[in-house]
Order: sequence, then structure tokens, then C-alpha cells
Amino acid sequence: MRIDAPVVNVDPYGLDLHLALHVCYELHYRGFADVDARWEWDAGLLHLRATLEEVFEAALRRDVGEADETETAQSVMDSLSVEPVDGEGLSYFLRDEGTWEQMREYFVHRSIYHLKEGDPHAWLIPRLGGRAKAAFVAIEYDEFGAGRAERLHQRLFADLLDGAGLDSGYLSYLDFVPAESLVVVNLMSMFGLHRASRGAAVGHFASTEITSPPGSYRLVQALERMGAATSCIRFYAEHVEADAVHEQVVRTDVVADLVDGEPHLDRDVVFGIRARDLVEDRLSAHMMKSWVSGHSSLRRTLV
Ligand SMILES: [Fe+2]
Ligand SMILES: [Fe+2]
Repeated sequence: MRIDAPVVNVDPYGLDLHLALHVCYELHYRGFADVDARWEWDAGLLHLRATLEEVFEAALRRDVGEADETETAQSVMDSLSVEPVDGEGLSYFLRDEGTWEQMREYFVHRSIYHLKEGDPHAWLIPRLGGRAKAAFVAIEYDEFGAGRAERLHQRLFADLLDGAGLDSGYLSYLDFVPAESLVVVNLMSMFGLHRASRGAAVGHFASTEITSPPGSYRLVQALERMGAATSCIRFYAEHVEADAVHEQVVRTDVVADLVDGEPHLDRDVVFGIRARDLVEDRLSAHMMKSWVSGHSSLRRTLV
């Protein structure tokens, strides 16, 4: 039986829509205790999920806008690689003046993704072939610890949460984070779960890998300044090193091979990059706005 939702006049980036979407997607990951796992493929629920996705994707398409004719996946990736000399933004703020309390809030926002790091993109594996597939899996192999459970990036982030005196349980902070934090994860799940969005999923993945090393380096500097535990620093230090290699592989092998074989996907790759920019900027702006006005960026107080 179809489950309908009144999505008229709903905020496409709001908490109602994104908590509902997040719950639908979670059925494809680890599910919920005491919830029948067969809900994952319940046609009625999939109808609801599609209704929510339509609202979200329409807003993304509207807000990202039409790609410039001259833009290509490679040119957009080139522009991502250029770091401004006097940059500003969240990682700069945390490096230069953020407090330990703000850093702990940042960890909580990111816990929704990093405790399942790599998983949303892994849906891409059967959707790629040849060189793109081989290179993509090589990168994911690192994300998943290169054969060692203690090196899973998901595990490294749990260690980081433990080191910061936070709860490292999976989705422990679901009720603490605002819509902006759920939106960044829902975007990856939406792209990953739809074969039609494989170009966008590749763009999202490429953008993640390309922008990670400099941002991670600033977080290492921030954490050193704050005297944080080694386990907190390790997660970001790992990303400075590993993602510098991943960046090259994703550009030259994953994206280049995909669009060589299927040139029409080039604009989808660009859309994936732009959509990620948009949702990441919204999350950063939310944190900065809260902190500048002296408030917590979370919906509940951390203990
Ligand atoms: Fe990682
Ligand atoms: Fe990476």
C-alpha cells in the first residue's frame, strides 16, 4: 500500500523532509533494531521515499542552476584544486580561533557520515566498469582500512569520538544534528542508490577526495592548537596523506575513464560536484552563524 506524504509547501532542506528521508535510506545500510529488515524494499515506503527525493532533487537542480556551457568535469575539478591564498570558511575558523567545544560540535555533525564513511559511495561499484571501476575500488579499499578493521575510516572516526569524550555509537547523535547535517548525507545516499545518478555520485566522490587534503590539514592544525588527543588528530592526518593520492587517481582514472566511455555523463559529474558544494556550504554557514551569535549549532546540548 502506498504511503503518501503531504509534501506541498515543505522546506526541501528542512528537518521534517530530511529526517524522514534519512530513516528511509538507513534501511539500506544498517537498519534499525526491532524494525523488520524487509521494509527496505516495501513498495509503499519506496513510493514515499521517491516523493521526498523529488522535492529535494528539484530544489538542488533549481539552486545549482544550469551548468555553464564551457564547464566540464575536468575544468570544475581543476578549480576545486586551487586553494585561495587567504581562504575563509569553517576549517580556517576552527584552525585560527575555534574553541574545543565548537570542535566537538563539528565532530557531532560529521558523525552521521563518518561512521558510515565510504558506504554511500560503495553503491557505485556495480555501476562502473573497466579502469574507472578498478581505480574507484582501489580508493575505497583505503577507506575501508586496506584489509585491517582497525584502519577502517569509520573505525578511525569512532576512535576520534572516543578521544573527544563523545558517544561513538552509530547514529547516536541523530537527534542532535540539524537538517543541514542530514542533507549532506542524504545527498550521497540519493546519488548512490540511483543508477541514473551515477555520474553525480562520481562527481560527489571526486569533489570529496579533491577538497579533503587541505581541509583535513587545517583540522590537524586546529586540533594540535587545542591539544586534542592523538586519536582525534589521526583521523584527519590520515586524510591529508591518503586523499592526496586519491585526488590524482579519481581525476585521471575514475572521472576521465567514466566520461570517455559515456560523454553524456560529464554534466552529471559537474552537477554532483556543484550539489555537494551547495549542501556543504549550507552546513558550514549554519555552524558559523550559530557560533558567531554565541549559540550551539546543535539541536540538543552536548554533555
Ligand atoms: Fe576517508
Ligand atoms: Fe579518500
